[in-house]
Amino acid sequence: MQTRVDAGLAVPQIRCDVDLTPFNTFGLPARASRFAVVRQAKDVAALRADPDWASGPSLVLGGGSNLVLTRDIPGLVLKVEVAGRKLVGEDRDAWYVEAGAGENWHDFVRWTLDQGRPGLENLSLIPGTVGAAPVQNIGAYGLEMAERFHSLRAVELDSGELIELDNAACRFAYRDSVFKQELAGRVLIISVTFRLPRRWQPVLGYADVARELAACGIVEPTPKQVSDAVIAVRQRKLPDPARIGNAGSFFKNPVVDAGTRARLAAAHPELPSYAQPDGRFKLAAGWLIDRSGWKGRDLGPVGAYENQALVLVNRGGARGADVERIARAIQADVLAKFGVQLEPEPVFV
Ligand code: EPU
Repeated sequence: MQTRVDAGLAVPQIRCDVDLTPFNTFGLPARASRFAVVRQAKDVAALRADPDWASGPSLVLGGGSNLVLTRDIPGLVLKVEVAGRKLVGEDRDAWYVEAGAGENWHDFVRWTLDQGRPGLENLSLIPGTVGAAPVQNIGAYGLEMAERFHSLRAVELDSGELIELDNAACRFAYRDSVFKQELAGRVLIISVTFRLPRRWQPVLGYADVARELAACGIVEPTPKQVSDAVIAVRQRKLPDPARIGNAGSFFKNPVVDAGTRARLAAAHPELPSYAQPDGRFKLAAGWLIDRSGWKGRDLGPVGAYENQALVLVNRGGARGADVERIARAIQADVLAKFGVQLEPEPVFV
């Protein structure tokens, strides 16, 4: 239902005291004092004109799949449900495909494949929305979203202006972007445009995916076969948030200098590590947590998942404080055993 204000803009309905449990995949309980759904950029302009707007939203929600809610939210929570997906351009080398920020990420990936425009298949089955993908620069199985990103449109919450950011302006890094830094809480992403190269090459460097294809006897996979392999691997290792509350990887894989890696590898030759372009090494946080004895272990109602220790799961009835407690315990144990500081990946509110 919509109401109208003097400016002539339809203001999305603002609901009071809304339960946010269904809007975060960890299933953590929290209430929003006020809550509204944004379906188009104009909705933000209309909300800004409303006397209720005051200092703007306290939280912008996408799919809520990278979020740890630790408290009730006193202000306005906006849930982004901007829909739509279309081809917006093409040139000799690539297609340009745009999707509304509220589109489900996985459905969007499968749609691009159905349209015969591959390039995102390694990112199949990642929970969340299109608009949330650039915030943490989602990545999996040898591909980061930044490699297929062209630009995005967002509303600046202070000014109400619609702005466009290109790849460089988003300052993408490993599970990071300007939206987690300077622009955190300052913009609402409306739509994202991807650049999908016409010349397709499968990204098969990741052992799990290559093994899955080989097990199916596939030598030259199609994009859909790569997508299906990624889905199979994910389903084996990662809990489905629709069944078991979680926020995906709970910690980033730590990046350490060559000396630290050499010291650790001497004591633990089986430690998985990946050389970075800058000479440093990324370590597998899941392995560090596993070897610290946490895999499948609970602390209160939250545990480290039995098939992938990097994922913390809600065993039922968990609150944000329970998540913080086990996270701190895991960080302390990994630091004590390996001398490596783990940094959480989701956004804490
Ligand atoms: N490992 C263990 N025990 C565990 C978990 C992992 O020994 O409990 C070892 C694995 O055997 C492997 C290594 O650690 O040798 C890495 O594990 P995995 O391949 O499962 O990937 P990851 O580094 O733990 C990252 C991403 C995932 C992404 C996968 C695949 C981060 C923080 N996580 O996990 O992303 O799906 O690679 O590309 O970078 C997410 O961000 O939410 C996410 C799920």
